[in-house]
Amino acid sequence: MKNFMEMKFLAKSENEAFARIVVASFASQLDPTIDEITDIKTAVSEAVTNAIIHGYEEDEERMVYLRCELKEDIIKVVVEDRGNGIEDIQMAMQPLYTSKPEMERSGMGFTVMETFMDQIIVSSVMGEGTKIVMKKRIKSNKIED
Ligand SMILES: Nc1ncnc2c1ncn2[C@@H]1O[C@H](COP(=O)(O)OP(=O)(O)OP(=O)(O)O)[C@@H](O)[C@H]1O
Ligand SMILES: [Mg+2]
Repeated sequence: MKNFMEMKFLAKSENEAFARIVVASFASQLDPTIDEITDIKTAVSEAVTNAIIHGYEEDEERMVYLRCELKEDIIKVVVEDRGNGIEDIQMAMQPLYTSKPEMERSGMGFTVMETFMDQIIVSSVMGEGTKIVMKKRIKSNKIED
């Protein structure tokens, strides 16, 4: 199995649901379980929400970039913004750390992505943007005997 898709969409909160459905639908080619699909959707939502809220500070004219790749039994999802960037990635990824406590964010987005996916790599340059690469192995399509 090898496949690839790429799209971009405006940084509107309505598009969070759109993005996670696109990824779930693309991932379905790997024959995941409902739980695996839910994990992927949740992680994609968190990454896209972060791009919109933190990357672009809700400037709805900006674009969020999404790419997915299927390789054997692994799905790779890349969510990218060309917004603010993250000053200290290690600090940003700490559970409960949020730069927007006044917006009642819980600072759990990265923790959720790490929990639900097998791997997450964050790269970011201040003033240039942020790229989140997440991978998950779909185990359910293996026939075991
Ligand atoms: N795409 C991004 N661009 C700029 N900063 C980001 C981006 N994604 C995350 N951050 C920074 O990392 C912090 C932690 O992100 P995380 O998703 O874990 O928590 P949160 O978004 O603040 O809260 P929650 O996701 O629980 O609503 C954010 O508060 C923000 O400062
Ligand atoms: Mg978040």
